[in-house]
Amino acid sequence: MTRPTFPVALRLLGIGAVLLVLSAAFAVAAGWLPPHRLGPDTIVDALEAHDGRHPGFRRAHAKGLCIQGSFLGNGNGALLSKAGIFARTDSPVIGRFSTGGGQPYAPDGRLAFRSLALSLIQANGEQWRMALDDTPMFPVATPQAFVDFQRATAPDPKTGKPDPARVDGYMAAHPETRAFLRWQQESPLSTSFANDTYYSINAFRFIDDTGKTWMVRWSFEPETPFEAIDKATLGARPANFLFDDVIARLAGSPLRWRLIVTIAEPGDATDDATKVWPAERRRIDVGTLVIDRALVEEDGACRNITFDPLILPAGIAPSDDPLLPARSGVYASSLARRGGEHGQPSALAKDPQARRAQP
Ligand code: HEM
Repeated sequence: MTRPTFPVALRLLGIGAVLLVLSAAFAVAAGWLPPHRLGPDTIVDALEAHDGRHPGFRRAHAKGLCIQGSFLGNGNGALLSKAGIFARTDSPVIGRFSTGGGQPYAPDGRLAFRSLALSLIQANGEQWRMALDDTPMFPVATPQAFVDFQRATAPDPKTGKPDPARVDGYMAAHPETRAFLRWQQESPLSTSFANDTYYSINAFRFIDDTGKTWMVRWSFEPETPFEAIDKATLGARPANFLFDDVIARLAGSPLRWRLIVTIAEPGDATDDATKVWPAERRRIDVGTLVIDRALVEEDGACRNITFDPLILPAGIAPSDDPLLPARSGVYASSLARRGGEHGQPSALAKDPQARRAQP
C-alpha cells in the first residue's frame, strides 16, 4: 500500500476536523455536553470590573461586621426537616451584617442590600450557612444575567459612569431586573439592621424524618418594630450610620428575629429568585435568632469564612435554582482571592465610634 501524498493527508485531516466539529455541535444540541459555562472566576472578574479590586475584602458585600449569638429552636421546624437545628434546643451562631457592593468603604446611606449572613452550628458539628438579603426577591434569575447586569452597569472608563445605552440594552432584555429596581425605589426602607427582615430568596428543600420533601424559603423577621427611614436624608447620613447604630444597640441589649419558614405550593417557582410566592402561603415560626455581640472583622470569626449557601446539614438540601451552585463556587473564588491578600483595615476598625461602642 502506498502512503497518501501530503495534499491527500491534509484533505483527510480537514474532513476529520469538520466531522469533529459537527459531532461536538450535535452533542451540545442533544444535551450530551454542557454548553459554555460561566466559571466562578469569570463572575468574580465581573464584580471586580464593576466595583474595583479591593485587596483583602469580599468581592461583594465588602463592608461588614462580625456578629455572634444563638438560635433557640422551638421544635416546630422538626415537622419539616430532620436537621438537628430544629430541635427544641439552643445552638451557637456566628454571622455578619453587611451592605451590598464590592466597595469596603462605601457610605451606608445608599440604596443597597442590607444583609445578614449566618452559620448555625448544630450539636453534631454540622453547620447551616446562609447569606440573606433584605429583599424578598433578587434582581436576576441566572448566573449569566448576573454577569450581564454587572457588565452593563460597570463604569465606562471614558466617563467613570455606566454607559446609558448598555444599561438600556440590558434592561430591555431583563424586565425582571427593572421590576426589582422599581420595587427597591418605591418600598419603605428600615432605619436599622435591627428592624429589617432578611430573606433566603432562593428556595431550598427541607427533608423530614419520613423522607418527605418540602419546598421552602425562609426569612428572619425582627422583634424590633419596623421604622421607615426618610430616603431623602440617606445621602446626608454619617458614612457608617447603620453599623454604628447596630453596634450601639448591641452594647445595650441583644437583638432578636423570628425564623419563619414559608412552604411552597405546586406551581410556585423554586428555580427563579426573581419571583416571589403569594403572600397567603403557609408560614411556620421555627425559632428565635438572638444576636448579642458585634466585633469588627479583624477581631471576629466571620472574616476568613464564606457563608456558602450550599453548606447545609442533613435535612436541608438545595432546590433547582441555578443561582445556588454558582454562588457556592463564586464565594469560594472570592475567598481564595481575598485570603491571599494584605488589605487595609475595615471601615469599622477605622471608625472610633464603632470601636468605642463594641461590648
Ligand atoms: C449568582 C448570584 C450571586 C453572586 C455571583 C454572588 C456573589 C457574591 C460574592 C462574591 C460574595 C462574597 C463572598 C466572600 O468572599 O465571602 C457574596 C456575598 C454575599 N452574598 Fe452573594 N451572590 C449572588 C447571589 C446572592 C443572593 C441570591 C443572595 C441573597 C439571598 C446573596 C447574598 C449575599 C450576602 C448576604 C453576602 C455576604 C456574606 C458575608 O457576609 O460573608 N447573594 N456574594
